[in-house]
Amino acid sequence: MSAPLRIGVAGLGTVGCGTIAILEGNREVLAARCRRALVVTAVSARSRSKPRPVPMDRYRWHDDPVALAHDPEVDVVLELIGGETGAAPAVIEAALQAGKPAVTANKALLAYEGARLARLAEGAGTDLAYEAAVAGGIPIVKALRDGLAGNRTTGVVGILNGTCNYILTTMRETGRAFEDVLKEAQELGYAEAEPSLDVDGHDAAHKLALLAAIAFGIEPALDAIHVEGIRQVQAVDIAYAEELGFRIKLLGIARATERGIELRLHPCMVPVATTLAGIDGVFNAVRVESDAAGSTLYVGRGAGAAPTGSAVVADLVDLARGFRAPPFGVPAAELAPPSVASMSEHIGAYYLRLTVDDRPGVLADIAACLRDEGVSVESMIQRHRATDQPVPIVMITHETREASLSRALDRIGHLDTVREPPRMLRIETV
Ligand code: HSE
Repeated sequence: MSAPLRIGVAGLGTVGCGTIAILEGNREVLAARCRRALVVTAVSARSRSKPRPVPMDRYRWHDDPVALAHDPEVDVVLELIGGETGAAPAVIEAALQAGKPAVTANKALLAYEGARLARLAEGAGTDLAYEAAVAGGIPIVKALRDGLAGNRTTGVVGILNGTCNYILTTMRETGRAFEDVLKEAQELGYAEAEPSLDVDGHDAAHKLALLAAIAFGIEPALDAIHVEGIRQVQAVDIAYAEELGFRIKLLGIARATERGIELRLHPCMVPVATTLAGIDGVFNAVRVESDAAGSTLYVGRGAGAAPTGSAVVADLVDLARGFRAPPFGVPAAELAPPSVASMSEHIGAYYLRLTVDDRPGVLADIAACLRDEGVSVESMIQRHRATDQPVPIVMITHETREASLSRALDRIGHLDTVREPPRMLRIETV
């Protein structure tokens, strides 16, 4: 047996406590796998007296997480504080500058600062590990970076936010509206009181930035991602999707095209027969398309104390065994700036829903707008004729360029007979 790996834990929230519970509960199996003990020696959090699910009195306490990083009885520092500024980056930087590996679950920080921190780690001859930052208990960072290292990756498509997937699933199952389901999710603890990070797509975009960096050897490029959340998804669109053989999922997509790398995170209609369409509730899933292995799929819990703690511990096992890999698969100095495909050049099929007056000539006017932009309609539904009420028209287009569709929708939205802004969802055949 080698000397124990001595671990300092900064941040004792859900993930910090979940990680310590695994390290303590699975102590023997971890020692056998690593041929050395993994021991927590020091901890740090804002409040020492806060009740926690695991006892903390056996560890050295630091009020200051940066002091924990400098503790001579700490070999590796876990940053489980969160946040892009303040203590989280300070403790990671202190660890790396001291030549100690840092393990973090901090997707937001890495999406903004990942390339810089990877350079800092490599310059100091140490490691930066972040399996827990993407999709909780799914070992997708290692799968993509190490397990598929022999491949050229052509695409990554994922359901990367459990809160959004839960809300969309519940909307479909109950027919209820977004706001109503969000409120219930908040009451049940599945959604934060301030839900924007999840429902506006930012959390999933952070994860997509990291997956794209590994897949394509690019710097994490959060600002280059086209992001739309799920607030605009209406129950009526979920019902039409079902009727047409689709489900609505919030997907993160990073895909190599002739026009550059598509980086987009938005609600999609996916055929109901596809595997991703069947991933429901709080579960996450990532599909990787690569040249040698083909398509591989990873499904699991994307959040929670034990699943996320599992990912943190996997990084600790790598460090204890002496396994090293550049954080994003290639040396940080070689990460390329991303060459991103413009959304206006995206080519795909679209779902459209229009709310229109029900009288002669309306459809002809709409068809003219689509015709003038070269948008071809594959199928159409119109129902619910009532004397003076606007009616919905639902269309599925053939593949078209997004810029052409946007111009057509702009004209359609200005027709006197069109009563609401047109609704559009991209169809993704995954
Ligand atoms: N809030 C995230 C989710 C988990 O709902 O999936 C942490 O990124």
